[in-house]
Amino acid sequence: MPKRIIPVASGKGGVGKTTFAINFALALSRRAPTVLVDLDTGTSSVRTTVSAPVEKDLYHVYRKGARLSECITPLGADLDPIGEFRQFGFVAGPRHFLAELAQPSAAFRRRLAEEINQLPADYVVLDLRAGLDDNVLDFLPYTNSGVLVFTPHHPTATLAASDIVKAILFRTLRQLFGPGSPVYSLPGMADGQDLVRELLDVAEDVYDDSIPNLDALLKDLADVFGDQPLLAMIAEVLDDFRVHYVLNMFNGVEESYERALRPFVENLSRNVSARPTVTQLGWVVRDDRIHQSNCSGRPVLLDRRQPVRARVSEEDAVMAELDSLASAMLGIQRRPRRTATAAAKAPEAENLLDAQLSSLKAMYTDRARDSVRENFSYLVYRALNLIAPPRAPGEFGQTALLQPEQVSRWFVRRSQAGQPG
Ligand SMILES: Nc1ncnc2c1ncn2[C@@H]1O[C@H](COP(=O)(O)OP(=O)(O)OP(=O)(O)O)[C@@H](O)[C@H]1O
Ligand SMILES: [Mg+2]
Repeated sequence: MPKRIIPVASGKGGVGKTTFAINFALALSRRAPTVLVDLDTGTSSVRTTVSAPVEKDLYHVYRKGARLSECITPLGADLDPIGEFRQFGFVAGPRHFLAELAQPSAAFRRRLAEEINQLPADYVVLDLRAGLDDNVLDFLPYTNSGVLVFTPHHPTATLAASDIVKAILFRTLRQLFGPGSPVYSLPGMADGQDLVRELLDVAEDVYDDSIPNLDALLKDLADVFGDQPLLAMIAEVLDDFRVHYVLNMFNGVEESYERALRPFVENLSRNVSARPTVTQLGWVVRDDRIHQSNCSGRPVLLDRRQPVRARVSEEDAVMAELDSLASAMLGIQRRPRRTATAAAKAPEAENLLDAQLSSLKAMYTDRARDSVRENFSYLVYRALNLIAPPRAPGEFGQTALLQPEQVSRWFVRRSQAGQPG
C-alpha cells in the first residue's frame, strides 16, 4: 500500500493539534512504520512533549543540507522500554527560534514537501501550525481536510476549521480554473473560464452576499451555461471532498453538538458548501493526565504511570469489538455519486447535521466510558478503515504532497480515467 501523509490542522491555536498528532502517530506506529513531522517550526512543541534526545532536526535540513530521513528521532529505551513503539520516529523542529525556519520560504516548503514524500514510513503525520497561511495550506491535501482538530471549549476554533476547508477548496478551484490550466484541454471546457474566475472572487468574499458560497456559484453558472462539463467538474470537486474531524477535550454529546458540530456544519454550509462529506473520526476525552503527560515529556500513550489495564490485550479487545461493528454504524459510509444534472442542486444543511448527530450518538452509546488509550485505538481503527481499499486514495490523507502545478494535472488525469482517485 502507498504511504499515507496525514496532516493535522486546526484553524486556531491551542485546541490540541500537537497532543493529538503525537498520540495518533504513536497509535498508528503499532500497525506500521510511522513518522511524525513537526511543521509548526516556530514553536517546535513536539520535541518538548516527547523528551527523546534529538541529534538532528529541521535546522540540519535547512542549514546543513541533511536529508529529512536522516533527521528522524526514535523514542529510545527510556521512553519505550519494551519496544512497543519501535516503529515510531519523529522529525523535530529547531531547538531555538529561527526566523528563517519559522517563516520558511516557498522554495524550502517545496523541498520539505518533496522530502516528506520520500520518508521511509507507511504513515506520515504532520503537526501543522495554527492559522491559514501557506505554511499550512501547502501541506494540506486537495481532496480532503486531513484531520481537523477542534473542541467544544473553543467555539471560534470550529469556525476557523471550516475556513480551512474553504481555503483548500478555493485554492484547488483556482488552480483548476487558472489561466493556462490543463483542464481546458478536456472536451467542452473551453468556455466560461473568465466567468468562473470572476464568480470565485465574489464567492470567496464573505463581505459580498451576492454569491454566499460555492453551491450558489454552481447555481449561477448553471443559469448561464446549463448542464456543462465545467460545472460538473466543480460539483465533483465539492462532492468528492472529505472533511474529517476529531473532537478534543470531549465532554459528552450535547455539548459537542451545540458548541462544536452545529457551528462547524452551519458555517461550512453557509459560507463554503453543503456538498462535502463530513466524518467524525472520534474524540479524545478531557483529562488532566493528558496535560501532565505532555508536560513531563512523556505523551499519554507512553506514560506508564497511567492505570494500564492489561495493555496489549486491551487493544485487541477494542479492535475485535470495533471490527464487528457495521461501517454504517460508524458513519463512514460513502454518499452516492451525483450526476452532472444534479450539479446545481445543493444538499440541505440539516441533513448534514442530522448525520453528524446520529453518528456521534451511535459512537457514544458504545464508547462513552473509553479511556484515552481506547480513544486513540478507536481513532486509528477509523482512520485505517478510511485508508483501506476499495476506498479512493484521496479519501483520507494523501499518498504524496503535490506541488500547486501538479494539482490540475492530477484532476485532469482523474477526469480522463473517469473515476475518483
Ligand atoms: N484532551 C486533553 N485534555 C487535557 N488537556 C489537553 C488535552 N488536549 C490538549 N491539552 C492541553 O491543552 C494545551 C494545548 O494543547 P496542544 O499544544 O496540543 O494544542 P495545539 O493545538 O497544538 O496548540 P498550538 O496551536 O499552540 O500548537 C496543552 O497544554 C495540552 O497539554
Ligand atoms: Mg501545536
